[in-house]
Amino acid sequence: MLITIVTIFPEMFPGMLAYSLPGKHLGTLWDLKVVNIRNHSDNRWQKVDDTPYGGGAGMVMKANIVHNALTEALKNYQNKVPAIIHMTPRGKLFNNTTARSLATCDGLVILCGRYEGIDQRVIDHWIKHYGMQEISIGDYVLFGGEVAATVVIESCLRFVPGIMHNENSPDNDSFDIKDTNGDRVDLLEYPQYTKPVSWNSYDVPSVLLSGNHAEIMKWRIEQSKQITEQVRPDLWNTYKMLCKRYQA
Ligand code: ADE
Repeated sequence: MLITIVTIFPEMFPGMLAYSLPGKHLGTLWDLKVVNIRNHSDNRWQKVDDTPYGGGAGMVMKANIVHNALTEALKNYQNKVPAIIHMTPRGKLFNNTTARSLATCDGLVILCGRYEGIDQRVIDHWIKHYGMQEISIGDYVLFGGEVAATVVIESCLRFVPGIMHNENSPDNDSFDIKDTNGDRVDLLEYPQYTKPVSWNSYDVPSVLLSGNHAEIMKWRIEQSKQITEQVRPDLWNTYKMLCKRYQA
């Protein structure tokens, strides 16, 4: 899977993606290219932005410059069709389901904005002609899309075959718990323990030492449900609603 980042800060990449399993498989199971938006600047100061029409604070990235940078990024794919993503707090909220589906794409082009944003006309054009998707990683505002892009890439790479130690590893993580009937459900992960059995007078739950896999599974799913109900009532309500629907 080839990922191309379009940014004014190419030196931010691969950054954290050079570590751990993403780093180990960078150059083999996935690859990263970076397009520097400044290389498409139309002036000798390498400026990429200008003041907003209508006034107001901040600067807006210019349509022609961003357009040319995205066009350069697309050249990396020849006859393949990558998913094109614009990282923005105004986008659709990112989640594990989106990560799983992006991981099956022919590649990703990720546009990272800075300043007050990007001229809307280039966004409209790339949505209309290239199916660009706008994605937010949460209800807060970052200084730019680069950290958000890193988050999206890390979570997608977990679903690229071969990147995790074991093909089943993404199962039974948060948002991907296998329910008693084998269905994947959006619950949070159950707690994990390792040696020693007793630490600082805290003991490992005895069921985990029992060797009874059916009981262990039951206990873990129950824990996932309890934790989800406590900290994520939104996920819990959806889970209960889906359970009811399947029972009906
Ligand atoms: N750029 C700035 N804030 C962002 C967010 N929350 N998600 C994605 N991109 C962003």
